[in-house]
Amino acid sequence: MTAAIEVSDLSKSYDGTRAVDGVSFTVAAGETFGVIGPNGAGKTTTVECLTGLRRPDSGTVRVLGLDPARERRALAQRIGVQLQESALPDRLKVAEAMRLFASFYAAPDDWRAVLDRWSLGSIAGRAYADLSGGQKQRLQLALALVGGPEVVVLDELTTGLDPLARRETWTLVGDLKASGTTAVLVSHFMDEAEELCDRVAVIVRGRVAALGSPRDLMARTGTGSLEQAYLALTGSARTGEGSR
Ligand SMILES: Nc1ncnc2c1ncn2[C@@H]1O[C@H](COP(=O)(O)OP(=O)(O)OP(=O)(O)O)[C@@H](O)[C@H]1O
Ligand SMILES: [Mg+2]
Repeated sequence: MTAAIEVSDLSKSYDGTRAVDGVSFTVAAGETFGVIGPNGAGKTTTVECLTGLRRPDSGTVRVLGLDPARERRALAQRIGVQLQESALPDRLKVAEAMRLFASFYAAPDDWRAVLDRWSLGSIAGRAYADLSGGQKQRLQLALALVGGPEVVVLDELTTGLDPLARRETWTLVGDLKASGTTAVLVSHFMDEAEELCDRVAVIVRGRVAALGSPRDLMARTGTGSLEQAYLALTGSARTGEGSR
C-alpha cells in the first residue's frame, strides 16, 4: 500500500487557540478518506495544511511525497482543492473561471467536458455573482477537478446542494475513486461519509478521536450507522470557544 498522504503529529494554533493538536493519519493511494467532527474541531485547518495553504506549527505533512508548505508549486500541479469558503470575482464567468483554472495545470482535462459533467454547461456564460449557492458549489468542485489531479481535497463536499445534486456528486466521487484518485472529504453528512469513504477520521478538539472504516466505527460503538457511531464517539463534544 503506497501512502498518498502522511500526516504526523500535526499542530497548528491561531493566536493561542490550538486548532489542531497532534493529528496523525495516513491515506493510501486511491483511498477515499473522510474527515468528520464538530464545528470548530480543526478539520479545515488540517486539510488546509495538506494543500500548502497553511503552514503547520509543528509535525510533518507529506502529500505525494512533497512537503506542501515548501513545495507548494510542484504539488499544485498534482492536487485539486475545493475550499469551504472560497469566492471568485463576481463578474468572472463560469467558462472564464474554468479556462483560468485549467491554465494553471500542465495537462488539464477538457474544461468543457468537466463543466458538462457537473451540469454547468448551460450556464457557462453566467457571472459568478449570478449563480445559485448550489451552482457555486458545483463550480468549485469542477474547478478542483479540471487539472485531472492525483489527490483531491474537498472541504464540505455537498453543503448547499439539493438532494439530487448531492446524489450526483456521490456518483462523481465514485467515478473519481474508480479512476484511482485519492480523495480527502470533509463532511457533516454522515450518510455521505458512510457511503463514500473507505475510512474516516473523527476529529474532536483538534485531535483524532477515532479512525477506521465506517464499519469499524459502527462495530466499535455497537451502532448501526455512521451517524449513530459519530454521536456515540463525540457525545456532546463541542469545541466552541471557552471549552478548551
Ligand atoms: N484564521 C483563523 N484565525 C483564528 N482562528 C481560526 C482561524 N481559522 C480557524 N480558527 C479557529 O480554529 C478552530 C478550528 O477551526 P477549523 O476551521 O479548522 O474547524 P472545522 O473543523 O473546519 O469547523 P467547521 O465544521 O465549522 O467548518 C476554531 O476554533 C476556529 O475558530
Ligand atoms: Mg471547516
